[in-house]
Amino acid sequence: MQHYTNYSLKKRNTFGLDVKAKDFFVFENSKELSTWLAQGHSKGQILVIGGGSNLLFTRDYEGIVLSPELKGIEIIAEDEKKVLVRFAAGEEWDTCVQWAVENGLGGIENLSYIPGNAGAAPVQNIGAYGVEVADVVESVEGVMLEDGSPFRKSRGECDFEYRYSIFKGPLKNKVVVTGVILKLSKEPAFSLDYGAVREQVSRLGGLSLGNIRNAIVDIRKEKLPEPDEFGNAGSFFKNPVVEASSYQQLQKKWPEIPGYVLQNGEKVKVPAGWLIEKAGWKGREFGNAGVHKKQALVLINRGHATGSEIAGLAKAIQEDVFSTFGIQLYPEVNFL
Ligand code: EPU
Repeated sequence: MQHYTNYSLKKRNTFGLDVKAKDFFVFENSKELSTWLAQGHSKGQILVIGGGSNLLFTRDYEGIVLSPELKGIEIIAEDEKKVLVRFAAGEEWDTCVQWAVENGLGGIENLSYIPGNAGAAPVQNIGAYGVEVADVVESVEGVMLEDGSPFRKSRGECDFEYRYSIFKGPLKNKVVVTGVILKLSKEPAFSLDYGAVREQVSRLGGLSLGNIRNAIVDIRKEKLPEPDEFGNAGSFFKNPVVEASSYQQLQKKWPEIPGYVLQNGEKVKVPAGWLIEKAGWKGREFGNAGVHKKQALVLINRGHATGSEIAGLAKAIQEDVFSTFGIQLYPEVNFL
């Protein structure tokens, strides 16, 4: 384990917040980590940091930060149709998607260009353009922080839901994910029905894994800011889910309100970006923080913002959306 003290996290969080970790540890294999944990180092507060693309630091981090830098992509089994691939936690997620597409394996192409590392993908069940990583997870491997013992959770044991897994629930702050095993397909079933995906794919020359990936990269680049342009963490809030009856009430006042009917029609998911835009926040500046001008769901660091300023903006938006629509927004980003 490499150990650094008072380590700057500025380059380790995509908001670009200038905070420090009291103790910062890097490890490159799970054995090294297990031994270290078995020695009792896990007492106190531990934060496992991947790409730092879903974190909002409001102050320096007083506990231990662990950075998994495990690398490797390996095929562990295959038949005529499916391939099981193990992606080490420290691989950049988009490198994994690129590898899959280049090897003709389908399942994660719609998740192209999502920032962060492979280990974080199952934790918050990343999703985009009609696909969630839960759709292809075979299992998740890791070690328990308490004593360094290894675990493996099958997809069913992960309790996946929209932007949720057991690793954000009962196992929060209790494990380090070291790898994720995905079941990818040699005969991909394409998912093109979200937004402008189909249109952009045909513009690029028709159906292929590579064209889907490129179409999604184009769409994301058009709407979402690059962290080196404006620090950000992608969607700041989750899309709220409301009762169908409340949605019908909202439709009376705002006939154009978008919504996706869920399950058996009892609930409707409403795009938070629409609510925020309608409440007048799109493109607004708030001190050194702001709301992205092309996607209201993305809060940005306009340069030198503190985490507290961004948190203040988030709170103002939540209050305004609640008083306008009676809908509570919950952050997707983790506050620290
Ligand atoms: N909308 C607006 N104004 C905005 C933004 C959105 O009116 O400023 C409305 C539009 O009606 C649009 C609808 O919201 O049709 C949906 O917008 P979009 O397709 O951009 O998706 P989203 O609901 O805003 C979700 C994910 C994104 C993911 C996209 C595409 C969440 C919280 N966010 O955003 O994920 O890339 O769908 O699938 O579920 C992320 O989690 O960091 C992320 C970027």
